[in-house]
Amino acid sequence: MKINDIIKKRRSVFPPQYNDTPISEALIKTVLENANWAPTHRLTEPWRFKVLRGGAKDRLGTFLSNTYTDITPDASFSPFKHKKIINNCKSANVIILICMQRDLEERIPEWEEIASTAMAVQNMWLTCSEYGVGSYWSSPKLIEYMGDFLEFEEGERCLGIFYMGNYDAEVELDSKRESIANKVKWLD
Ligand SMILES: Cc1cc2nc3c(=O)[nH]c(=O)nc-3n(C[C@H](O)[C@H](O)[C@H](O)COP(=O)(O)O)c2cc1C
Repeated sequence: MKINDIIKKRRSVFPPQYNDTPISEALIKTVLENANWAPTHRLTEPWRFKVLRGGAKDRLGTFLSNTYTDITPDASFSPFKHKKIINNCKSANVIILICMQRDLEERIPEWEEIASTAMAVQNMWLTCSEYGVGSYWSSPKLIEYMGDFLEFEEGERCLGIFYMGNYDAEVELDSKRESIANKVKWLD
């Protein structure tokens, strides 16, 4: 079945692995459209996305690296990490900020809205993978400060950074899992 292949072939592909080939707007819209079909309890549809391209990516890189400098004690500051933050934003062709809109009436628990948003991201990730585009979900502590970069609606917050970029086919994409048998109990 095709679905088995699609799921098993998805990988995290990181910004240093990306090349300069642009991602079309049509493909970005396909990725977002597929996100929109995630399951959602009470149809709260909590996923929100901010699509950053061009100069907006650089502004994010500057914001995140400056924030890293501000919040990191001198003793643990890493110039390597500081540069990596900037380079990740430059290397990605598209960055989608993964955000979640809490139902203001709180009709369902927050974890269900986070779960629903994560399912939307899985749709995005699988779509990228199937189209041969590299992507991955990054969740640095810095996302807690994203409200200083973006104007959020009341109850909205950032859950991560989804980096996207084309990559050369020969890049080795590694991943492994312990057997599912160790994680399942069957009851008859
Ligand atoms: C919610 C979430 C947050 C993640 N955050 C990070 C992250 O901050 N840094 C990172 O290197 N990988 C992050 N990842 C990617 C995982 O490292 C990756 O999925 C895992 O290593 C398995 O590799 P695979 O995706 O290629 O199968 C995240 C994945 C998820 C689902």
